[in-house]
Amino acid sequence: MASIVFFLALAAGVATGEPSLPPPSRACDIPAIYNFGDSNSDTGGIAAAFYPPGSPSGETFFKRPAGRGSDGRLIIDFIAEKLGLSYLSAYLDSIKADYTHGANFATGGSTIRRINESWFANDVSPFSLDIQVEQFNQFKDRTTYLYKKAENESQRRNLPRPEDFAKAIYTIDIGQNDIAYCFRTLGVEASRAAIPDIVNQFATAVQQLYGKGARAFWIHNTGPIGCLPITYAKIHNPPKGYLDKIGCVTGHNAIATEFNKQLKAKVIQLRSYFPRAVLIYVDMYSAKYELIANAKDQGFDKWSTICCGYHDSDEDVYCGNQGKINGTEVFAGSCKDPTKVISWDGVHYTEAANNWIATRITNGSFSDPPFSIATTCPDDISVS
Ligand SMILES: *[C@@H]1O[C@H](CO)[C@@H](O)[C@H](O)[C@H]1NC(C)=O
Ligand SMILES: *[C@@H]1O[C@H](CO)[C@@H](O)[C@H](O)[C@H]1NC(C)=O
Ligand SMILES: *[C@@H]1O[C@H](CO)[C@@H](O)[C@H](O)[C@H]1NC(C)=O
Ligand SMILES: *[C@@H]1O[C@H](CO)[C@@H](O)[C@H](O)[C@H]1NC(C)=O
Repeated sequence: MASIVFFLALAAGVATGEPSLPPPSRACDIPAIYNFGDSNSDTGGIAAAFYPPGSPSGETFFKRPAGRGSDGRLIIDFIAEKLGLSYLSAYLDSIKADYTHGANFATGGSTIRRINESWFANDVSPFSLDIQVEQFNQFKDRTTYLYKKAENESQRRNLPRPEDFAKAIYTIDIGQNDIAYCFRTLGVEASRAAIPDIVNQFATAVQQLYGKGARAFWIHNTGPIGCLPITYAKIHNPPKGYLDKIGCVTGHNAIATEFNKQLKAKVIQLRSYFPRAVLIYVDMYSAKYELIANAKDQGFDKWSTICCGYHDSDEDVYCGNQGKINGTEVFAGSCKDPTKVISWDGVHYTEAANNWIATRITNGSFSDPPFSIATTCPDDISVS
Protein backbone atom coordinates (compact mmCIF):
# COMPACT_ATOMS: atom_id res chain seq x y z
CA MET A 1 0.00 0.00 0.00
CA ALA A 2 2.80 2.39 0.89
CA SER A 3 4.26 2.02 -2.55
CA ILE A 4 0.94 2.87 -4.21
CA VAL A 5 0.68 6.08 -2.23
CA PHE A 6 4.26 6.88 -3.07
CA PHE A 7 3.64 6.28 -6.70
CA LEU A 8 0.56 8.46 -6.98
CA ALA A 9 2.38 11.24 -5.17
CA LEU A 10 5.22 10.90 -7.61
CA ALA A 11 2.96 11.05 -10.64
CA ALA A 12 1.21 14.11 -9.26
CA GLY A 13 4.53 15.77 -8.50
CA VAL A 14 5.71 15.26 -12.02
CA ALA A 15 2.50 16.47 -13.59
CA THR A 16 2.66 19.73 -11.66
CA GLY A 17 6.35 20.21 -12.25
CA GLU A 18 7.30 19.90 -8.57
CA PRO A 19 10.70 18.50 -7.74
CA SER A 20 10.90 14.71 -7.86
CA LEU A 21 10.59 12.77 -4.63
CA PRO A 22 13.63 10.89 -3.37
CA PRO A 23 13.95 7.39 -4.77
CA PRO A 24 12.29 4.52 -2.95
CA SER A 25 14.67 2.74 -0.60
CA ARG A 26 13.33 -0.70 -1.41
CA ALA A 27 14.41 -2.58 -4.46
CA CYS A 28 11.86 -4.85 -6.12
CA ASP A 29 12.47 -8.16 -7.75
CA ILE A 30 12.89 -7.44 -11.46
CA PRO A 31 12.59 -10.84 -13.17
CA ALA A 32 13.20 -9.83 -16.78
CA ILE A 33 14.52 -7.16 -19.15
CA TYR A 34 12.97 -6.34 -22.50
CA ASN A 35 15.35 -4.14 -24.46
CA PHE A 36 14.79 -2.04 -27.59
CA GLY A 37 17.40 -0.04 -29.46
CA ASP A 38 20.35 0.11 -31.82
CA SER A 39 23.95 -1.09 -31.78
CA ASN A 40 24.53 0.51 -28.38
CA SER A 41 22.54 -2.37 -26.89
CA ASP A 42 22.48 -5.05 -29.60
CA THR A 43 23.60 -8.36 -28.09
CA GLY A 44 23.43 -10.36 -31.30
CA GLY A 45 20.34 -9.31 -33.28
CA ILE A 46 21.81 -7.83 -36.43
CA ALA A 47 24.58 -10.46 -36.33
CA ALA A 48 21.94 -13.22 -36.42
CA ALA A 49 19.92 -11.50 -39.16
CA PHE A 50 22.82 -10.62 -41.46
CA TYR A 51 26.57 -11.08 -41.01
CA PRO A 52 28.15 -11.86 -37.66
CA PRO A 53 31.02 -9.54 -36.72
CA GLY A 54 34.42 -11.24 -36.79
CA SER A 55 37.52 -10.92 -34.65
CA PRO A 56 38.67 -8.99 -32.74
CA SER A 57 35.18 -8.05 -31.49
CA GLY A 58 34.34 -9.74 -28.20
CA GLU A 59 37.98 -10.53 -27.40
CA THR A 60 38.20 -8.89 -23.97
CA PHE A 61 35.31 -10.63 -22.24
CA PHE A 62 33.68 -13.29 -24.37
CA LYS A 63 37.02 -14.35 -25.92
CA ARG A 64 35.26 -14.66 -29.27
CA PRO A 65 32.94 -12.52 -31.41
CA ALA A 66 29.66 -12.30 -29.48
CA GLY A 67 27.39 -10.32 -31.81
CA ARG A 68 28.27 -7.06 -30.10
CA GLY A 69 29.90 -3.93 -31.46
CA SER A 70 32.60 -3.85 -28.79
CA ASP A 71 35.54 -5.79 -27.42
CA GLY A 72 33.31 -7.04 -24.60
CA ARG A 73 30.21 -6.23 -22.62
CA LEU A 74 27.76 -3.47 -23.49
CA ILE A 75 25.92 -1.24 -21.02
CA ILE A 76 22.87 -3.54 -21.31
CA ASP A 77 25.09 -6.47 -20.24
CA PHE A 78 26.20 -4.55 -17.13
CA ILE A 79 22.55 -3.70 -16.44
CA ALA A 80 21.68 -7.41 -16.62
CA GLU A 81 24.53 -8.18 -14.19
CA LYS A 82 23.33 -5.44 -11.85
CA LEU A 83 19.86 -7.02 -11.74
CA GLY A 84 21.29 -10.51 -11.28
CA LEU A 85 19.97 -11.68 -14.65
CA SER A 86 21.66 -13.54 -17.49
CA TYR A 87 22.78 -11.64 -20.61
CA LEU A 88 19.91 -11.06 -22.98
CA SER A 89 19.43 -13.29 -26.00
CA ALA A 90 18.51 -11.52 -29.21
CA TYR A 91 14.95 -12.10 -30.38
CA LEU A 92 16.30 -12.79 -33.87
CA ASP A 93 18.72 -15.44 -32.68
CA SER A 94 17.34 -18.89 -33.43
CA ILE A 95 20.31 -20.75 -31.98
CA LYS A 96 20.40 -21.59 -28.28
CA ALA A 97 18.51 -18.50 -27.22
CA ASP A 98 17.31 -18.29 -23.60
CA TYR A 99 14.34 -16.02 -22.96
CA THR A 100 13.70 -16.97 -19.33
CA HIS A 101 14.70 -13.48 -18.17
CA GLY A 102 13.74 -11.37 -21.14
CA ALA A 103 14.71 -10.72 -24.73
CA ASN A 104 16.58 -8.15 -26.75
CA PHE A 105 14.94 -6.55 -29.78
CA ALA A 106 17.73 -4.03 -30.42
CA THR A 107 19.66 -4.27 -33.67
CA GLY A 108 22.69 -2.36 -34.88
CA GLY A 109 21.65 0.39 -37.27
CA SER A 110 18.09 0.69 -35.95
CA THR A 111 16.18 3.95 -36.05
CA ILE A 112 13.01 5.18 -34.38
CA ARG A 113 11.40 6.13 -37.70
CA ARG A 114 11.22 3.99 -40.79
CA ILE A 115 13.72 5.63 -43.07
CA ASN A 116 14.27 5.43 -46.81
CA GLU A 117 17.59 3.64 -46.70
CA SER A 118 18.60 0.05 -46.23
CA TRP A 119 21.02 -2.29 -44.60
CA PHE A 120 22.65 -2.78 -48.00
CA ALA A 121 23.15 0.93 -48.68
CA ASN A 122 23.90 2.56 -45.33
CA ASP A 123 23.92 -0.19 -42.69
CA VAL A 124 20.44 0.93 -41.63
CA SER A 125 18.59 -1.87 -39.88
CA PRO A 126 15.17 -2.83 -41.25
CA PHE A 127 14.11 -3.38 -37.62
CA SER A 128 13.06 0.16 -36.72
CA LEU A 129 11.51 0.74 -33.30
CA ASP A 130 7.93 0.12 -34.49
CA ILE A 131 9.02 -3.25 -35.91
CA GLN A 132 10.82 -4.09 -32.65
CA VAL A 133 7.56 -3.41 -30.81
CA GLU A 134 5.71 -5.68 -33.29
CA GLN A 135 8.30 -8.37 -32.60
CA PHE A 136 7.77 -7.93 -28.88
CA ASN A 137 4.00 -8.31 -29.33
CA GLN A 138 4.52 -11.53 -31.22
CA PHE A 139 7.09 -12.70 -28.68
CA LYS A 140 4.72 -12.07 -25.77
CA ASP A 141 1.73 -13.71 -27.43
CA ARG A 142 3.54 -16.78 -28.67
CA THR A 143 5.63 -17.45 -25.57
CA THR A 144 2.53 -17.02 -23.38
CA TYR A 145 0.62 -19.51 -25.54
CA LEU A 146 3.49 -22.02 -25.42
CA TYR A 147 4.04 -21.58 -21.69
CA LYS A 148 0.37 -22.20 -20.90
CA LYS A 149 0.18 -25.17 -23.22
CA ALA A 150 3.33 -26.75 -21.76
CA GLU A 151 2.79 -29.89 -19.69
CA ASN A 152 6.03 -29.91 -17.74
CA GLU A 153 9.12 -27.87 -16.88
CA SER A 154 11.05 -29.28 -19.76
CA GLN A 155 8.55 -27.82 -22.23
CA ARG A 156 8.70 -24.47 -20.46
CA ARG A 157 12.47 -24.32 -20.71
CA ASN A 158 13.83 -21.00 -22.08
CA LEU A 159 10.37 -19.41 -22.04
CA PRO A 160 9.56 -16.37 -19.89
CA ARG A 161 6.85 -16.73 -17.26
CA PRO A 162 3.75 -14.88 -18.54
CA GLU A 163 3.31 -13.04 -15.22
CA ASP A 164 6.82 -11.58 -15.53
CA PHE A 165 5.94 -9.26 -18.43
CA ALA A 166 4.24 -6.87 -16.02
CA LYS A 167 7.12 -6.96 -13.54
CA ALA A 168 9.87 -6.60 -16.13
CA ILE A 169 11.88 -3.50 -16.86
CA TYR A 170 11.61 -2.14 -20.41
CA THR A 171 14.87 -0.51 -21.45
CA ILE A 172 15.15 1.68 -24.57
CA ASP A 173 18.28 3.21 -26.13
CA ILE A 174 17.66 4.56 -29.63
CA GLY A 175 17.76 7.80 -31.62
CA GLN A 176 21.37 8.26 -32.65
CA ASN A 177 20.84 6.72 -36.09
CA ASP A 178 17.77 8.89 -36.74
CA ILE A 179 19.94 11.94 -36.13
CA ALA A 180 22.76 10.56 -38.29
CA TYR A 181 20.23 9.90 -41.09
CA CYS A 182 19.02 13.50 -40.88
CA PHE A 183 22.61 14.78 -41.11
CA ARG A 184 23.17 12.65 -44.22
CA THR A 185 20.00 13.60 -46.03
CA LEU A 186 19.05 17.05 -44.77
CA GLY A 187 22.24 18.62 -43.43
CA VAL A 188 22.81 19.51 -39.82
CA GLU A 189 20.65 22.62 -39.46
CA ALA A 190 17.59 21.26 -41.27
CA SER A 191 17.76 18.18 -39.03
CA ARG A 192 16.28 20.17 -36.20
CA ALA A 193 12.90 20.26 -37.96
CA ALA A 194 12.66 16.45 -37.99
CA ILE A 195 13.04 16.06 -34.22
CA PRO A 196 9.37 16.46 -33.19
CA ASP A 197 8.31 13.67 -35.54
CA ILE A 198 11.10 11.37 -34.30
CA VAL A 199 10.14 12.02 -30.69
CA ASN A 200 6.44 11.48 -31.40
CA GLN A 201 7.15 8.12 -32.98
CA PHE A 202 9.24 7.21 -29.95
CA ALA A 203 6.23 8.05 -27.76
CA THR A 204 3.98 5.87 -29.93
CA ALA A 205 6.28 2.91 -29.28
CA VAL A 206 6.17 3.49 -25.51
CA GLN A 207 2.40 3.78 -25.68
CA GLN A 208 2.13 0.47 -27.54
CA LEU A 209 4.37 -1.29 -25.02
CA TYR A 210 2.25 0.16 -22.23
CA GLY A 211 -0.82 -1.19 -24.02
CA LYS A 212 0.83 -4.61 -23.96
CA GLY A 213 1.36 -4.44 -20.20
CA ALA A 214 4.78 -2.78 -19.83
CA ARG A 215 4.89 -0.68 -16.65
CA ALA A 216 8.53 0.12 -15.81
CA PHE A 217 10.52 2.00 -18.44
CA TRP A 218 14.21 2.91 -18.33
CA ILE A 219 14.83 5.33 -21.19
CA HIS A 220 18.32 6.37 -22.29
CA ASN A 221 18.65 9.65 -24.13
CA THR A 222 21.08 9.84 -27.03
CA GLY A 223 24.82 10.29 -26.63
CA PRO A 224 27.12 13.08 -27.84
CA ILE A 225 27.12 12.15 -31.53
CA GLY A 226 29.49 15.10 -32.12
CA CYS A 227 32.16 13.23 -30.17
CA LEU A 228 32.52 10.22 -32.45
CA PRO A 229 36.24 9.63 -33.03
CA ILE A 230 35.53 8.46 -36.59
CA THR A 231 34.13 11.92 -37.37
CA TYR A 232 36.97 13.66 -35.57
CA ALA A 233 39.53 11.70 -37.61
CA LYS A 234 38.26 13.33 -40.80
CA ILE A 235 38.32 16.94 -39.65
CA HIS A 236 41.25 19.12 -40.66
CA ASN A 237 41.59 22.87 -40.15
CA PRO A 238 38.05 23.31 -38.80
CA PRO A 239 36.61 26.84 -38.89
CA LYS A 240 36.51 28.67 -35.56
CA GLY A 241 33.70 27.38 -33.33
CA TYR A 242 33.18 24.20 -35.37
CA LEU A 243 34.62 22.14 -32.52
CA ASP A 244 34.00 22.65 -28.81
CA LYS A 245 36.82 22.96 -26.29
CA ILE A 246 37.49 19.23 -26.16
CA GLY A 247 37.24 18.71 -29.94
CA CYS A 248 33.65 17.48 -30.41
CA VAL A 249 31.56 18.84 -33.31
CA THR A 250 29.45 21.63 -31.80
CA GLY A 251 26.62 21.46 -34.37
CA HIS A 252 26.19 17.70 -34.09
CA ASN A 253 26.04 17.84 -30.31
CA ALA A 254 23.57 20.73 -30.48
CA ILE A 255 21.15 18.53 -32.46
CA ALA A 256 21.62 15.61 -30.06
CA THR A 257 20.96 18.00 -27.16
CA GLU A 258 17.81 19.33 -28.81
CA PHE A 259 16.59 15.77 -29.42
CA ASN A 260 17.23 14.97 -25.76
CA LYS A 261 15.40 18.08 -24.58
CA GLN A 262 12.31 17.14 -26.58
CA LEU A 263 12.60 13.48 -25.57
CA LYS A 264 12.67 14.46 -21.89
CA ALA A 265 9.63 16.72 -22.30
CA LYS A 266 7.82 13.84 -24.02
CA VAL A 267 8.71 11.38 -21.25
CA ILE A 268 7.33 13.84 -18.69
CA GLN A 269 4.13 14.13 -20.76
CA LEU A 270 3.86 10.34 -20.99
CA ARG A 271 3.98 10.14 -17.17
CA SER A 272 0.80 12.15 -17.00
CA TYR A 273 -0.89 9.92 -19.61
CA PHE A 274 0.21 6.71 -17.88
CA PRO A 275 0.07 7.33 -14.14
CA ARG A 276 0.36 3.57 -13.54
CA ALA A 277 3.73 3.43 -15.25
CA VAL A 278 7.12 4.47 -13.99
CA LEU A 279 9.20 6.18 -16.68
CA ILE A 280 12.83 6.92 -15.86
CA TYR A 281 14.72 9.27 -18.19
CA VAL A 282 18.46 8.58 -18.12
CA ASP A 283 20.86 11.29 -19.22
CA MET A 284 23.28 9.12 -21.15
CA TYR A 285 24.59 12.17 -22.99
CA SER A 286 25.96 13.71 -19.81
CA ALA A 287 27.42 10.43 -18.57
CA LYS A 288 29.23 9.82 -21.86
CA TYR A 289 30.36 13.44 -22.22
CA GLU A 290 31.69 13.44 -18.68
CA LEU A 291 33.83 10.40 -19.51
CA ILE A 292 35.02 11.87 -22.81
CA ALA A 293 35.86 15.27 -21.30
CA ASN A 294 37.77 13.69 -18.41
CA ALA A 295 39.34 10.77 -20.24
CA LYS A 296 42.83 11.28 -18.84
CA ASP A 297 41.67 11.74 -15.24
CA GLN A 298 39.60 8.58 -15.51
CA GLY A 299 42.59 6.51 -16.64
CA PHE A 300 41.92 6.50 -20.38
CA ASP A 301 43.91 7.73 -23.41
CA LYS A 302 42.63 10.85 -25.16
CA TRP A 303 39.00 10.36 -26.14
CA SER A 304 39.60 10.49 -29.90
CA THR A 305 41.80 7.37 -29.90
CA ILE A 306 40.25 4.47 -31.81
CA CYS A 307 41.19 1.02 -30.54
CA CYS A 308 40.27 -0.99 -33.62
CA GLY A 309 40.28 0.38 -37.19
CA TYR A 310 42.23 2.85 -39.32
CA HIS A 311 40.56 6.10 -40.28
CA ASP A 312 41.94 9.29 -41.74
CA SER A 313 40.60 11.98 -44.06
CA ASP A 314 39.92 9.73 -47.01
CA GLU A 315 40.80 6.18 -46.09
CA ASP A 316 38.97 3.79 -43.81
CA VAL A 317 39.71 0.23 -42.80
CA TYR A 318 36.95 -0.72 -40.39
CA CYS A 319 37.56 -2.83 -37.33
CA GLY A 320 38.04 -6.48 -38.23
CA ASN A 321 38.61 -5.77 -41.92
CA GLN A 322 41.53 -5.92 -44.29
CA GLY A 323 42.37 -2.92 -46.47
CA LYS A 324 44.92 -0.41 -47.68
CA ILE A 325 46.16 2.59 -45.71
CA ASN A 326 48.93 4.79 -47.15
CA GLY A 327 49.37 2.20 -49.88
CA THR A 328 50.06 -0.59 -47.40
CA GLU A 329 47.82 -3.61 -46.84
CA VAL A 330 46.69 -3.74 -43.20
CA PHE A 331 44.33 -5.75 -40.99
CA ALA A 332 42.38 -3.58 -38.58
CA GLY A 333 42.95 -5.48 -35.36
CA SER A 334 42.75 -4.46 -31.74
CA CYS A 335 44.94 -1.95 -29.91
CA LYS A 336 47.40 -3.16 -27.25
CA ASP A 337 45.26 -2.34 -24.25
CA PRO A 338 41.54 -1.81 -24.88
CA THR A 339 41.00 -1.13 -21.16
CA LYS A 340 42.76 2.22 -21.68
CA VAL A 341 40.71 3.32 -24.70
CA ILE A 342 37.17 4.76 -24.74
CA SER A 343 36.28 4.13 -28.38
CA TRP A 344 36.34 0.59 -29.69
CA ASP A 345 35.84 1.20 -33.42
CA GLY A 346 35.35 4.94 -33.80
CA VAL A 347 31.58 4.73 -33.18
CA HIS A 348 31.04 2.21 -30.37
CA TYR A 349 32.51 2.15 -26.91
CA THR A 350 34.94 -0.35 -25.42
CA GLU A 351 33.89 -2.63 -22.58
CA ALA A 352 35.96 -0.49 -20.20
CA ALA A 353 34.06 2.65 -21.22
CA ASN A 354 30.72 0.82 -21.09
CA ASN A 355 31.55 -0.36 -17.59
CA TRP A 356 32.46 3.20 -16.51
CA ILE A 357 29.18 4.54 -17.89
CA ALA A 358 27.04 1.67 -16.57
CA THR A 359 28.45 2.08 -13.06
CA ARG A 360 27.35 5.70 -13.04
CA ILE A 361 23.95 5.44 -14.68
CA THR A 362 22.65 2.35 -12.89
CA ASN A 363 22.84 3.96 -9.44
CA GLY A 364 20.46 6.72 -10.50
CA SER A 365 22.88 9.63 -10.55
CA PHE A 366 21.90 10.44 -14.16
CA SER A 367 18.20 9.50 -13.78
CA ASP A 368 15.12 11.68 -13.69
CA PRO A 369 13.60 11.01 -11.20
CA PRO A 370 16.78 9.79 -9.44
CA PHE A 371 15.86 6.10 -9.35
CA SER A 372 18.53 3.44 -9.59
CA ILE A 373 17.83 0.62 -12.01
CA ALA A 374 17.07 -1.79 -9.15
CA THR A 375 14.38 0.54 -7.79
CA THR A 376 12.70 1.10 -11.16
CA CYS A 377 9.75 -0.98 -10.07
CA PRO A 378 6.33 -1.16 -11.59
CA ASP A 379 3.82 0.00 -9.02
CA ASP A 380 0.90 -2.18 -9.95
CA ILE A 381 1.87 -5.65 -11.00
CA SER A 382 -1.64 -7.01 -11.31
CA VAL A 383 -1.85 -6.25 -15.05
CA SER A 384 -1.60 -9.15 -17.43
C1 LIG B 1 10.48 8.35 -47.03
O1 LIG B 1 9.91 8.62 -48.29
C2 LIG B 1 8.50 8.85 -48.24
C3 LIG B 1 7.98 8.95 -49.68
O2 LIG B 1 8.73 9.87 -50.40
C4 LIG B 1 8.24 10.11 -47.42
O3 LIG B 1 6.85 10.34 -47.32
C5 LIG B 1 8.83 9.90 -46.01
O4 LIG B 1 8.67 11.08 -45.25
C6 LIG B 1 10.30 9.54 -46.09
N1 LIG B 1 10.76 9.21 -44.74
C7 LIG B 1 11.74 9.83 -44.11
C8 LIG B 1 12.05 9.39 -42.72
O5 LIG B 1 12.39 10.73 -44.61
C1 LIG C 1 6.99 -33.43 -21.03
O1 LIG C 1 5.74 -33.63 -21.65
C2 LIG C 1 5.84 -34.11 -23.00
C3 LIG C 1 4.42 -34.14 -23.58
O2 LIG C 1 3.55 -34.87 -22.75
C4 LIG C 1 6.53 -35.46 -23.02
O3 LIG C 1 6.65 -35.93 -24.37
C5 LIG C 1 7.91 -35.32 -22.43
O4 LIG C 1 8.54 -36.56 -22.32
C6 LIG C 1 7.81 -34.70 -21.01
N1 LIG C 1 9.15 -34.43 -20.54
C7 LIG C 1 9.51 -34.69 -19.27
C8 LIG C 1 10.94 -34.36 -18.94
O5 LIG C 1 8.77 -35.18 -18.47
C1 LIG D 1 49.44 7.28 -43.00
O1 LIG D 1 50.20 8.44 -43.31
C2 LIG D 1 49.92 9.57 -42.47
C3 LIG D 1 50.70 10.75 -43.03
O2 LIG D 1 52.05 10.42 -43.19
C4 LIG D 1 50.24 9.23 -41.02
O3 LIG D 1 49.94 10.34 -40.19
C5 LIG D 1 49.45 8.02 -40.60
O4 LIG D 1 49.78 7.64 -39.29
C6 LIG D 1 49.66 6.85 -41.56
N1 LIG D 1 48.74 5.79 -41.19
C7 LIG D 1 49.12 4.55 -40.93
C8 LIG D 1 48.03 3.59 -40.54
O5 LIG D 1 50.26 4.19 -41.02
C1 LIG E 1 26.95 6.58 -8.34
O1 LIG E 1 28.23 6.05 -8.62
C2 LIG E 1 29.23 7.03 -8.90
C3 LIG E 1 30.50 6.29 -9.30
O2 LIG E 1 30.81 5.25 -8.43
C4 LIG E 1 29.42 7.92 -7.68
O3 LIG E 1 30.39 8.92 -7.97
C5 LIG E 1 28.08 8.58 -7.37
O4 LIG E 1 28.19 9.37 -6.19
C6 LIG E 1 27.00 7.53 -7.16
N1 LIG E 1 25.71 8.22 -7.01
C7 LIG E 1 24.73 7.77 -6.22
C8 LIG E 1 23.47 8.56 -6.23
O5 LIG E 1 24.86 6.76 -5.54
